[in-house]
Amino acid sequence: MEMKSTSWLKARNLSRSYRRGSSEVRALDDVSVSVERGEYISIVGSSGSGKTTLLNLLSGLDSPTSGTVEFQGTALQLMTKRELALYRAKKVGMVFQSFNLIPQFTALQNVEIALYFNGTNAKERRRQSQAILEQLGLSDRVTHKPADLSGGEQQRVALARAIVKKPEILFADEPTGNLDYENAQQIASLINNLNKENYTIILVTHNIELAKKNSNRIIKMQYGKIAEGDGAKGEGSMQI
Ligand SMILES: Nc1ncnc2c1ncn2[C@@H]1O[C@H](COP(=O)(O)OP(=O)(O)OP(=O)(O)O)[C@@H](O)[C@H]1O
Ligand SMILES: [Mg+2]
Repeated sequence: MEMKSTSWLKARNLSRSYRRGSSEVRALDDVSVSVERGEYISIVGSSGSGKTTLLNLLSGLDSPTSGTVEFQGTALQLMTKRELALYRAKKVGMVFQSFNLIPQFTALQNVEIALYFNGTNAKERRRQSQAILEQLGLSDRVTHKPADLSGGEQQRVALARAIVKKPEILFADEPTGNLDYENAQQIASLINNLNKENYTIILVTHNIELAKKNSNRIIKMQYGKIAEGDGAKGEGSMQI
């Protein structure tokens, strides 16, 4: 049997359960999905359907209870600690639903840290981080700490941190969730431009309009499963 994957990023039969005392929550239940380089995928679905869980597994932040995630034919689970750290530091950019900014750091330092893990020198770290914050309309907020930023500003700092290292895959968990219409449109068009530069985008959103307008494919999650189709090219792409 031919087992070699041709996909760029591939999840096979992914499950993730959380145990709480005697009860078990199946956050993700036997999910398989293939992603081609340069795709823009929107993940939609109601609260608790497993969207964040799926992003955390694809980005190597969390490990599945069963199943595998492969990047360019290599299972994340079989990577050494160092290889996995490199995957996370160089290939993956992540915007968390709850931002996860470092409270003691300024906006600028929060962005610079991504380049620190990437091995960029201090001068370049500063230059590139300042440029991206400026692009996101935050040039007069660089010295603010997260507590002194609005929700939307924190969200933009989190996006700046994710994209400053030019990741091959951008995972974004509701990156416009805290933004007003105008700022949301601005972030959406910035993400579109990244996709045009061949970044692969995997984005969780509750905004169906934005998803339909911008992405190549929509994956709908329901009770820990993909609701329609397995997302493979040529089949199962959801039409809405
Ligand atoms: N650490 C955990 N321990 C126990 N259960 C968890 C844990 N993390 C998530 N869950 C459960 O797993 C399910 C899926 O959670 P997940 O965060 O993936 O949902 P989601 O689709 O991202 O929801 P939302 O739209 O609200 O962000 C939920 O029922 C949640 O309560
Ligand atoms: Mg979530």
